[in-house]
Amino acid sequence: MLKFAVFVSGNGTNLQAIIDAVKSGEIQAELALVLCDRRKALALKKAEQAGIKTLCLVRKDYATPQSYERDIVISLKEFGIDFIVLAGYMKVLSAFFIKTYPNKILNVHPSLLPSFKGARGIKDTFTYGTKVAGVTIHFVDDKMDHGPIIAQEAFKVSEKETLESLEKRIHAIEHKIFPKTIALYAQGRLKVSGRKVKILDKPQ
Ligand code: GAR
Repeated sequence: MLKFAVFVSGNGTNLQAIIDAVKSGEIQAELALVLCDRRKALALKKAEQAGIKTLCLVRKDYATPQSYERDIVISLKEFGIDFIVLAGYMKVLSAFFIKTYPNKILNVHPSLLPSFKGARGIKDTFTYGTKVAGVTIHFVDDKMDHGPIIAQEAFKVSEKETLESLEKRIHAIEHKIFPKTIALYAQGRLKVSGRKVKILDKPQ
């Protein structure tokens, strides 16, 4: 069984959905580590409550981004991590880090990429006034919110939509499609060639 780490910075609602999917057997992989970059993140508490090993490495405790990431990689190797899931992790990883895990890092983004990249995907979608919104799950490459897209789900934005209701709808989709996509990865059913990702009927 593959081992994976989830990186978090915030409330950890996606992390909770992933924990539940591991518990129910939907994701057949071991969630071996939760790595957090904020000591006060709610996500850290959720991981602890679920009895998952946690590690909190804060960027500003390190002299350089390189030394910070070097420590992360050392820990991931110690834990025997095969792949990484970014669930609301708000730091941009360097090309060095991504090269260490090529097509082995999955991210959830709260917009239909390539629209509304960055840290405020939901707010930017709302403010722009698009008629559709949605969620993207993608592999991480060395450009922000750019790697090969694995899954997207869109929905119509209603005229009555508020920022809060949009946020709620986006999170509900994230909690459904992110665990599903991680499950496919864990089964070896995602085949990447260039920017295209195929979902295989059987593991490769
Ligand atoms: C999620 O909406 C996720 O899509 C977003 O952060 C939120 C984390 O919520 N990620 C990004 O914007 C990445 N660019 P959570 O901590 O409750 O899972």
